[in-house]
Amino acid sequence: MGITMQKKSVNNMPEIFEKIFVNNKNWVQEKLNQDPNYFKKLSLGQSPPILWIGCSDSRVPANEITGTQPGEIFVHRNIANMVIHTDMSMLSVLDYAVNVLKVRHVIVCGHYGCGGVITAMSNKQVGLIDNWLRHIKDVYRLHKEEVDAIDDFEEKTRRMVELNVQEQVLDLAKTSIVQNAWSNNQALYLHGLVYDVANGYLKDLRLTVENDDSLDSVYQLFHQSASVK
Ligand code: CO
Repeated sequence: MGITMQKKSVNNMPEIFEKIFVNNKNWVQEKLNQDPNYFKKLSLGQSPPILWIGCSDSRVPANEITGTQPGEIFVHRNIANMVIHTDMSMLSVLDYAVNVLKVRHVIVCGHYGCGGVITAMSNKQVGLIDNWLRHIKDVYRLHKEEVDAIDDFEEKTRRMVELNVQEQVLDLAKTSIVQNAWSNNQALYLHGLVYDVANGYLKDLRLTVENDDSLDSVYQLFHQSASVK
């Protein structure tokens, strides 16, 4: 019975699902034409220099927009490119990237027109995701004065996308994983980027963090002066 049902759903496969296998075969062939050992080499291991934390949005594919190949970027994506310190998935990816792969750069990449940020700016209740997006409302509260001074809603959300990236970069810096790396003199640069879905360009927000100096002292885990009295 189960098999019959499965068969039926296979026959009703939407065209796009069938197409991914055709595309896959073509892609394999293309790679092998360029280098017959392409997959053999990739199978030996990876040492990507970059960890990318981006939005799950289908319009922001990490490799494609950065012109990078398999093996060059370690990727974590979630709704609105969040760095939430209780998210085991993000922490595991970060820990593995920093301590095993020894990446040199961690990029948080947001994007203009991010549905997560726009929804967080409203009073709409969407469902379970409200709990995730609540972290973006916290970003708004931190920067309320600046954001409220912008009248145009589009401009307001664009600025919020940037500020959200900025806060996620700082949240990365607050993790023990990143601070331990810095304390061990491991070179690790945290970058904030924004991708513009409307024109394809990546923008560097130029807020690269490479030590804990920009953190409020209470978040600094390796400074004597950080102790709260
Ligand atoms: Co998004």
